[in-house]
Amino acid sequence: MSKTAELLDELGFSRGRIVETIVTTRDSDGSPRAAPMGVTRKEPDLLEIKPFKTSATYRNLLKNTYACVNLTEDPALFLVTAFKHEDLQGFEQPHIEEDLSLSQADASIFVEVLTGSDLSENRGCFVCRARSVEVRRPFPKVFSRGRAEAIEAVIHATRVEAYLRMGRREEAEKLIKRLDECKGVVERVSPPDSTEVRIVRTLEALIRGWEEAWR
Ligand SMILES: Cc1cc2nc3c(=O)[nH]c(=O)nc-3n(C[C@H](O)[C@H](O)[C@H](O)COP(=O)(O)O)c2cc1C
Repeated sequence: MSKTAELLDELGFSRGRIVETIVTTRDSDGSPRAAPMGVTRKEPDLLEIKPFKTSATYRNLLKNTYACVNLTEDPALFLVTAFKHEDLQGFEQPHIEEDLSLSQADASIFVEVLTGSDLSENRGCFVCRARSVEVRRPFPKVFSRGRAEAIEAVIHATRVEAYLRMGRREEAEKLIKRLDECKGVVERVSPPDSTEVRIVRTLEALIRGWEEAWR
């Protein structure tokens, strides 16, 4: 097994498991872009990314061979990269290096896109070869339900926005309920001034704004 494949094992990429990452790509004007994406390991050194066709990441992966899969547990990084187009006050912005690695990430996996295909009408599927791995922060972190539920809330919010924009209110409302449950856990287990509490409150404010905009 290659050194890269061994490192993927150590990082927790077991075969078939979807892990939540931040994928960095390059736009057509050369500027870097970061977006949260689920990634699945398919073979020892093959990773699969399944972006919605509406995402800029989908368009970038179609055109560019190189991308980077960045690992973090920081819910604020998921928030700011999922909602780049929103004016989010008080959260640090992502910093993307020239080699596409995200400097705040714990580790970065440099990948090469091998194939792109259609998963469905709305979603693409890219198979990528992991070329190398850079581990920046090897020190372990405690598991926090508050942090995990804040990331879960960010995922739901990305779909709430999409559904409200498409006028699919019922689906949006179901996810808003799930987001409320995430908020309940975060408020129970994390202190009121924590990043994760600020995140769930920010998401609530964003949703109110979208409901107004796409009423
Ligand atoms: C943890 C997490 C995982 C996500 N996974 C995916 C995914 O696998 N595919 C996808 O298209 N969007 C996913 N999203 C939503 C995108 O990150 C979001 O739509 C983003 O705005 C796309 O950005 P882009 O247009 O710059 O590519 C995920 C969001 C979060 C928070």
